[in-house]
Amino acid sequence: MLRSVILAAARSSRLERLVATAPISRDVVRRFVAGTTAADALRVTRALVDDGLTVSLDHLGEDTHSPADAARAREEYVALLAAAAEAGLTPAVEASLKLSALGLRLDEQLAADHAAAVCAAAVAAGTTVTLDMEDHTTTDATCEILTKLRQDFPATGVALQAYLRRTEADCRDLAGAGARVRLCKGAYAEPESVAYQSKLEVDRSFVRCLNVLMSGNGYPMLATHDPRLVAIGEDRAKWFDRTADQFEFQMLYGVRPAEQLRLAAEGYAVRVYVPYGTQWYPYLMRRLAERPANLAFFARAIQSRG
Ligand code: FDA
Repeated sequence: MLRSVILAAARSSRLERLVATAPISRDVVRRFVAGTTAADALRVTRALVDDGLTVSLDHLGEDTHSPADAARAREEYVALLAAAAEAGLTPAVEASLKLSALGLRLDEQLAADHAAAVCAAAVAAGTTVTLDMEDHTTTDATCEILTKLRQDFPATGVALQAYLRRTEADCRDLAGAGARVRLCKGAYAEPESVAYQSKLEVDRSFVRCLNVLMSGNGYPMLATHDPRLVAIGEDRAKWFDRTADQFEFQMLYGVRPAEQLRLAAEGYAVRVYVPYGTQWYPYLMRRLAERPANLAFFARAIQSRG
């Protein structure tokens, strides 16, 4: 219930203005977002890489409404990838891309063309791209664009969301095709017709999908902070004889950092998803929705300013 209220607030531009201009916001945002510029993101990335972690960089922004903004998002990624290579951070660093930032809601072909340009920049920088998955109205288009991108850029990955009823079948298709798949629970408010609603059902689906991916031919990326699912991931890696270069764990910047380091110290590949940019509001709201305790963190930050 609280989750859907917060996710609804994530779409309110009135609330966005209020939160973005509130004096406390900067402290709260800093926990989950690397900063506003590519230089901030690369500084945070350097520290993570020095700690033995790898990184996926996300330039914040989604639901772009104009072709000019979509082109700007593409250029941001092209410049970011070149700067990451220049700084010697590739291939430890890859890019995460939201197709809606590249104009998916305006024109699917436009978003596909921009995504191909970013993939080409990633290859030139010695790294790759993973497509984030957004709400379920974009799933078909994202999978279609992925299939086209993989013809020229076979290492392009995609996120799949265990809360969607269709995802086990999508995992089968992509594991069979040897794709890089980031499995996550899913962060949007979705109707019962397409998505499991209870934590138990979502967790069970996650494990079924994880089994499909870990037993397949692709490269599974297990994106969760859930201790039970991390333990199951470790177990399945042993069961299916997957070595550290044959799968990875992924977690978000600012969430369970000690666990990220523990897994890396155990010899696992661990990638941290590092967002940066000025359009942090919907991203922050999704993080708050995932963990009501983060609301207390938000409230404490307000109190400490009072
Ligand atoms: P769950 O929410 O059950 O949390 C398990 C435990 O982890 C909590 O009890 C808490 O200890 C800790 N935790 C989780 N979230 C926290 C938070 N925000 N703050 C503090 N502690 C927290 N979603 C999507 O729809 N499309 C996508 O492309 C992606 N991409 C993506 C990349 C990566 C690398 C990650 C880790 C996650 C995503 N997600 C995503 C988000 C994902 O779908 C999901 O919403 C969150 O990861 C939370 O789910 P958990 O699996 O962590 O479990």
